[in-house]
Amino acid sequence: MTGAIAPSRREEHRMRAVVAGATGLIGSKTDARLRDHGVEVALVSRSEGVDVTTGQRLPEALRGADVVVDVTDAPSRAETVSGEFFRTATSNLLEAARSAGAERCVVLSVVGADRLRAGYFRAKAEQEERVRRSPIPHSIVRATPFFESVEDVSRSVSYKDSVHVAPVLTRSVATDDVAAAVAHVSVGVPLFGVLEVAGPDEGRLDELTAKLLAAQGDTRAVIADAHAPFFGVELQEGTLLPEAGADLGHRTFTEWLARR
Ligand SMILES: NC(=O)c1ccc[n+]([C@@H]2O[C@H](COP(=O)([O-])OP(=O)(O)OC[C@H]3O[C@@H](n4cnc5c(N)ncnc54)[C@H](OP(=O)(O)O)[C@@H]3O)[C@@H](O)[C@H]2O)c1
Repeated sequence: MTGAIAPSRREEHRMRAVVAGATGLIGSKTDARLRDHGVEVALVSRSEGVDVTTGQRLPEALRGADVVVDVTDAPSRAETVSGEFFRTATSNLLEAARSAGAERCVVLSVVGADRLRAGYFRAKAEQEERVRRSPIPHSIVRATPFFESVEDVSRSVSYKDSVHVAPVLTRSVATDDVAAAVAHVSVGVPLFGVLEVAGPDEGRLDELTAKLLAAQGDTRAVIADAHAPFFGVELQEGTLLPEAGADLGHRTFTEWLARR
């Protein structure tokens, strides 16, 4: 008997999150935010040697996961819009998460997925549906277009002297704010529902594009064109606006432009 106090055998469990799409725009920021929450993070992406479409090394990557966070996106626009990528990736991730005994899953979707059943929006709605049907407790985060997406819009229907953009209202959002929301939801109890995330300011997509072009010294005119496609889809007014009660971020488009 030495009188020394025996160390407790009970070790505190540190939450383990697997972030699929961890090297992407949202994934890299979600990884950082989860670590701020004290979470142990495992990274999934092809550059980390794990493939969610072929399933290569997926079971190993998900071993010991408490929560699986899906912020993947397809390498090509065609695979994103057709829904082919999300069909395979989400099914594989959910099956691997179930086999690994994960307690919950979180997926990032898009505001408007429940309203516009075409192209990219339908692909994301189907992805949400797969998650809802899975036996794993879930949370769905829907975001409005990222500020970076305005750059895609400015390249989408582009001519020598003009750019055509649908003049619809949105609350475009900073990826920092989206990642913060995804991380926050990931460490909480499952929502069994949707949290929408949007930017602090309402603005029209054509006006945001005009601001971006002006900041880039691009003199092309921005033409408000209701038929100009967004991710291959003709938009309707309201599609890119969140529901009441959305989580509104702090960072503005003007601040983002100034930082670029
Ligand atoms: N853009 C918007 O305005 C917007 C708005 C709302 C919601 N969202 C959603 O936000 C999510 C994330 O978008 P993001 O812009 O952050 O995407 P991103 O920057 O393109 O990143 C995609 C990530 O997925 C990984 N990935 C791609 N194919 C993979 C595969 N076969 N296996 C494993 N990993 C793979 C990529 O890494 P590797 O290339 O190394 O594999 C990368 O880490 C998407 O689901 C998108 O629908 C986007």
